[in-house]
Amino acid sequence: MIKVGFYQFCPVFGDKRANLHKIVEALERANADLLVLPELCTTGYLFTSQDEVNELSEPIPGPTTRFFENLTQRKNLWLVLGMAERDEISKKCYNSAVLIGPDGYRATYRKAHLFFEEKLYFVPGDTPFRVYDLGAARMGMLVCFDHFFPEATRALALQGAQIICHPSNLVLPGKGQQITRVRAMENRIFWILANRYGVEERGGKKLSFTGASQIVAPNGELLAQAPSDSESLQIVEISPAEANDKRVTALNDLFADRRPEMYNL
Ligand code: ACM
Repeated sequence: MIKVGFYQFCPVFGDKRANLHKIVEALERANADLLVLPELCTTGYLFTSQDEVNELSEPIPGPTTRFFENLTQRKNLWLVLGMAERDEISKKCYNSAVLIGPDGYRATYRKAHLFFEEKLYFVPGDTPFRVYDLGAARMGMLVCFDHFFPEATRALALQGAQIICHPSNLVLPGKGQQITRVRAMENRIFWILANRYGVEERGGKKLSFTGASQIVAPNGELLAQAPSDSESLQIVEISPAEANDKRVTALNDLFADRRPEMYNL
């Protein structure tokens, strides 16, 4: 059994220092093995120029991953968080998720499917969908809008992911929560959706984020669910091996019953 959870909060746009300290303060009191934070949770979401993105993004590994390494090492914790990444060589910016563990920085996933005006400021990810073995569980990362593309989840599930860690800034009311529940069921995997809440209003634009972070079991059951409009740290105990059983009836195994030769993908 392992303890997994999410921390839902409302980042302050542009104030990385305040956001990092808020996160650490919350996580200090958490007793968990794996925790997931929202997308772009160190910077906020609603960028209004490329200059802003360039200024607030940073290399990975870099200052933010080093900042969290102290916490993950001390608490023997695996942490997944969304942040703005700038590649030092190409200078391109990515909407990324990072995995930091008891031994420090482990991996980066760059969001493959950019949502709406993210396309103005970030480039689409180029990191293949990959599964990481944490010892107690095998996990994969997706960022927000990626959940709309079933192939992304399927690629991770077919590689043996037992848990999807999903930093998000969902804005379409109710949709992401429903979709991720279906993705968990159709792949028989656990899903940790860490969404943010609150409103950002900048440069004449306004976005409301839908909160309602959730943890879903392979059978679709909701193991935890946050409110839509307030801070929430929730942790549940799961057995990752439950995700290895793909049967939905005695005669139906969701992976063995696939017909890839008919899909023409
Ligand atoms: C989203 O991908 N942030 C909706």
